[in-house]
Amino acid sequence: MDRKIKRIGILTSGGDAPGMNPAIRAVVRSCIYMGVECIGIRRGYSGLINGDVIPLDDKSVNGLVTRGGTILYTARCPEFMTDDGLQRAVKTCKYIGIDCIIAIGGDGTFRGARDLSVWGVPVMGIPGSIDNDIACTEYSIGFDTACNTAIEAIDRLRDTMQSHERCSVVEVMGRKAGHIALYVGIAAGATAVLVPEQELDLDRDVIEKIRRARLSGRTHFMIIVAEGVGSAVDVASYIREHTGLDPRVTVLGHVQRGGSPTARDRVTASRMGHYAVKCLLEGRVNRAIVTKNGDITDIDIEEAVEMKKGLQSSMVECLDTLTGV
Ligand code: F6P
Repeated sequence: MDRKIKRIGILTSGGDAPGMNPAIRAVVRSCIYMGVECIGIRRGYSGLINGDVIPLDDKSVNGLVTRGGTILYTARCPEFMTDDGLQRAVKTCKYIGIDCIIAIGGDGTFRGARDLSVWGVPVMGIPGSIDNDIACTEYSIGFDTACNTAIEAIDRLRDTMQSHERCSVVEVMGRKAGHIALYVGIAAGATAVLVPEQELDLDRDVIEKIRRARLSGRTHFMIIVAEGVGSAVDVASYIREHTGLDPRVTVLGHVQRGGSPTARDRVTASRMGHYAVKCLLEGRVNRAIVTKNGDITDIDIEEAVEMKKGLQSSMVECLDTLTGV
């Protein structure tokens, strides 16, 4: 094992995701086990610029496996996208003696880590984002919890929609991606799902599906709208105008980002955190930890940030089939 790394810095950046805390815990515990120090950097890259750090020991991460959010706080930091911000971050690493950085977050976090590596700071990215839109990995920590939270809420909505024979339009998160909407749509038995990856045609994708559902005897309708498509309120107005239904709109919003992580997120986060430290101490730096065919592996961070991700076509086909009758 390469012993040059003595002190690892860890930060969480971008939108928080359930599972970030178990990942922090796994990194800290693995560091202790492997005999290296772990320093927490607070508020993402802005903490790195400002030297906002805390030592992390076993006690600091006790009980974290069950907790949503991130004890390190998180932020989006435009300053880090400038040369000046990056230089200040590099200085902090030198001043504090941080040998490498583990950055947990989404696409923006990975790009930040890549930029840091260009300035000579070794990095490791761990994918944490409810959106599951990070191209290099099949799975990002937080997605499962967010989907389960959304599904629980939608199941509740279904009870009242069924009782009143109504239409419900639910907006889910996902920024510019439709992974949450697609997954939740299948799991919640939606009438129609709108995702930003597909061209929007409300007549074909919503009105026609409601019409067919009505013809086959269904009396309540669940429409899932990914936030990247636009406003659920506008979709509801269109349905009102074209069907005579009186839809109710629910925007699930940040509720989807909170809560205790599911078993899948706890285990994936723990495995990724452990893998990240092992990888660094084996001398593999500037990598992104990813899942591939269900297993954990690592790829070059530069390569990782260049990749593009679309919706899984077999999932789209499944949804189209199930909502097409
Ligand atoms: O990237 C995670 C995410 O929750 C997106 O789904 C959403 O568009 C965005 O963050 C919301 O960001 P904020 O917390 O800044 O409102």
